Amino acid sequence: MLTVRGLEVFYGPIRALRGIDLDIHAGEIVALIGANGAGKTTAVRAIAGLTPFRGTITYKGRPLIPNSAEMNLRAGLSLVPEGRGILGQMTVDDNLQMGIYCRKDRADAAHDIERMFDRFPILRERRASLANLLSGGEQQMLAIARALLSRPNLLLLDEPSLGLAPKTTAQVFDLITSLRSEGLTVLLVEQKARQTLKIADRAYLIETGHVVMSGRAADLANDSLISKAFLGGTSVATAETA
Ligand SMILES: Nc1ncnc2c1ncn2[C@@H]1O[C@H](COP(=O)(O)OP(=O)(O)OP(=O)(O)O)[C@@H](O)[C@H]1O
Ligand SMILES: [Mg+2]
Repeated sequence: MLTVRGLEVFYGPIRALRGIDLDIHAGEIVALIGANGAGKTTAVRAIAGLTPFRGTITYKGRPLIPNSAEMNLRAGLSLVPEGRGILGQMTVDDNLQMGIYCRKDRADAAHDIERMFDRFPILRERRASLANLLSGGEQQMLAIARALLSRPNLLLLDEPSLGLAPKTTAQVFDLITSLRSEGLTVLLVEQKARQTLKIADRAYLIETGHVVMSGRAADLANDSLISKAFLGGTSVATAETA
């Protein structure tokens, strides 16, 4: 569904991505894991069309034009950005309306909002509240619901568990698993490697703008390099198991 070849992104003189290759097949959860500053956000932002890049990103057989976020959204790529991108001074309802702005099928879109309320009853309950009054987990649900309202084929999630308690993180990961079973394809950026590798089909480990390892998630979870870097008593692993 998505093929990335030789992806490079520069911030001025800084080469944040140094030629990464990724493949995402329909129906998969593909994880992009790596430490702070590795380039994960830069990669998903390039795919979403939010930053210029060199190299090629092919989506459903067609090359994406750099920096064309709206076109990508219409083509079925939807991003839940790092930090969620919720507009806190707007109501839950208004945030959801943003999710359908690019849709022409207004009646179906309104129906989809009702379906989101069925899926996330707390959002229906709080629909008139300002979004910043929701808990972190509820805000993440709102951000995902908003992204789903554009009816994506490929959902890009940038650290959806950031700042969430372990129980809420588990709920978000369960949700991602159910989205896959409904046919959605997911690129999941995470630092919580252990939990991510449990739900992902395949994974890429990136370090300082390079892919240093890739393969089946189960194999990466057993790999000694990953264990050392993420799973064996580092602060990341400690935070995860806390
Ligand atoms: N707007 C920017 N201007 C300059 N440098 C940037 C900018 N955004 C990111 N960088 C740099 O690019 C590199 C990759 O950053 P990126 O945000 O993609 O990392 P990340 O893997 O998402 O990290 P984190 O886990 O902390 O979110 C880092 O060295 C970062 O400092
Ligand atoms: Mg990031």
